[in-house]
Amino acid sequence: MAVRIDGKATSIKRRERILAETQKLIAETGVRPGLAVILVGDDPASAIYVRNKKKGCEDMGFLSREYRLPAETSEEELLSLIDTLNGDPEIHGILVQLPVPKHIDDKKVIARIAPEKDVDAFGYENVGRIMTGDFDFVPCTPAGIMVLLEEYGIDPAGKRAVVIGRSNIVGKPMAMLLLHKNATVTVCHSRTQNLAEICREADILVAAVGKANFVTADMVKPGAVVIDVGMNRDENGLCGDVAFAEVEPLVSHITPVPGGVGPMTITMLLQNTLTSARKAAQAK
Ligand code: GUN
Repeated sequence: MAVRIDGKATSIKRRERILAETQKLIAETGVRPGLAVILVGDDPASAIYVRNKKKGCEDMGFLSREYRLPAETSEEELLSLIDTLNGDPEIHGILVQLPVPKHIDDKKVIARIAPEKDVDAFGYENVGRIMTGDFDFVPCTPAGIMVLLEEYGIDPAGKRAVVIGRSNIVGKPMAMLLLHKNATVTVCHSRTQNLAEICREADILVAAVGKANFVTADMVKPGAVVIDVGMNRDENGLCGDVAFAEVEPLVSHITPVPGGVGPMTITMLLQNTLTSARKAAQAK
């Protein structure tokens, strides 16, 4: 029977460490990690994410600032707020919750965040650093997955890893992190031919597709590790990209949805913010 990878327990354990390290940083340097979260408009899913990020900060003893801007905020106003926060010594991380309204260019917004405060690691400098392996911040979802693999003693070295999905937020950085850990990595996407055949070669299969029950039993090698990044809804409620009931009996490890990858993401944001604050304290 497969081991269910417990993202909730791993997240709690990691947060205990972040809390202890935060208290130590504050005691030794007087620097308290600070995160600014900007939400433009009133997308309900984004509002829930932002609330959870704020709660995470408060639990760790971070300074948490939330900026809720109306949907009609101009790009100029948003960029100006980012400039102010870039220069604010109390703030070590700036996160603009995506998506932003259509009249705002998200590329411009991301590029405006100072690289040392880009705790999402979405900006060009941090993306380049991830590519070269010289990075401090890693996007939260792939970072959380790497922590889960480590926690469960799964070493990617020499393994075949297949990532389904090529987004800038998950698929591409995930592939890079697995490559840095010496996996042999294949990235699949909507135009991939023979998808099932390629997936069946995977020792580690990461599904970041955004389609409910997309990965079925015939796509999985017996004994594989299956990581499900999906957050979809079907007739039974929240579900992942993997058809869990039919895949679980075949594999060695699997992340459930909910309770797998999801709980790790905000924890990794907190980790990146702490890393940023620590660097700011060293530079003082
Ligand atoms: N929207 C959905 N996921 C994310 C994320 O990780 N960061 C930001 N900034 N926006 C998101």
